[in-house]
Amino acid sequence: MPPSVKFAVIPVAGLGTRFLPATKAVPKEMLPIVDKPTLQYIVEEAFSAGIEHIVLIQGRYKGCIEDHFDTSYELEDTLEKRNKTADLEMVRKIARLGPITSIRQKAPLGLGHAVLCARPIIGDAPFAVLLGDDLYRTEANKRSGIGQLIDAFEATGKGQIALMQVPLSEIHKYGAAEGKVDDKNERLFHISDLVEKPPKGTEKTDRAVVGRYVLPPRVWGLLEATKVGKGGEIQLTDALDALQKEQGLMGVTVDGKRVDAGDKLGFLEANLREALSRTDLKSGTVTLMQELLAELK
Ligand code: UTP
Repeated sequence: MPPSVKFAVIPVAGLGTRFLPATKAVPKEMLPIVDKPTLQYIVEEAFSAGIEHIVLIQGRYKGCIEDHFDTSYELEDTLEKRNKTADLEMVRKIARLGPITSIRQKAPLGLGHAVLCARPIIGDAPFAVLLGDDLYRTEANKRSGIGQLIDAFEATGKGQIALMQVPLSEIHKYGAAEGKVDDKNERLFHISDLVEKPPKGTEKTDRAVVGRYVLPPRVWGLLEATKVGKGGEIQLTDALDALQKEQGLMGVTVDGKRVDAGDKLGFLEANLREALSRTDLKSGTVTLMQELLAELK
């Protein structure tokens, strides 16, 4: 049985250019989905799956992310004096979610480079990777997105990546995985080739790599050896293709809904879905959506 997965890396050092000007001084991972930063949903997903230590790969806005997950003495003191008990408890809970270490990626040289920055902390252990702008909504009684990949890793001993089927015309925006579906479990996929953003006209698969990974420590050496690839960045996909050739790699179609909150429409969708899932906001949101649709007619 492979060792259990206790570490998670969450890279949040990208430039977030798709969200300028909002991301000029605020990381896109701190933009709120209703009233909670995107990153907090992801940190909660990791800890709820049994992760014991999160390594955040930070860029130029280190301060506000660290502050968010830290104790906030002044705020707590004020809420206490004003008897705002529920708010106080909610704020305190964030600082108690679990241990989070942050490392600085000194330049945004790509996702592969960002993940490699966590090596000195994680060392010779398997680890999860959760992209800081990809959200997974799973049913309350079900295992979280990354939890499903951890289970597949612990059952097979092989590296796991989350996959999603997209229209073939869209695959050029993603890492693309070729291979075949497992005979016994249609959610599992045996990968035979991985390509980062295949150019239009060369598409061979509709399975896109989306935001969650569980990887063995062998990937560190492969990342060290990975040369600059697509977009002038060190691509995680290239190291994972090498891993696949050496020791196999599997894909998991997560049972849940994935939303790319790093994309403008995805961000709006994530906000609407979250609002519709809250008892205090659902009917107001439905009314608002109906009014807006009627205005369009
Ligand atoms: P993205 O490609 O979605 O992020 O990377 P980006 O580069 O910030 O986005 P745009 O395209 O300019 O809008 C996926 C994740 O990897 C992180 C990002 O912060 C994001 O959470 N990342 C990316 C890093 O930490 N370092 C990098 O060098 C690149």
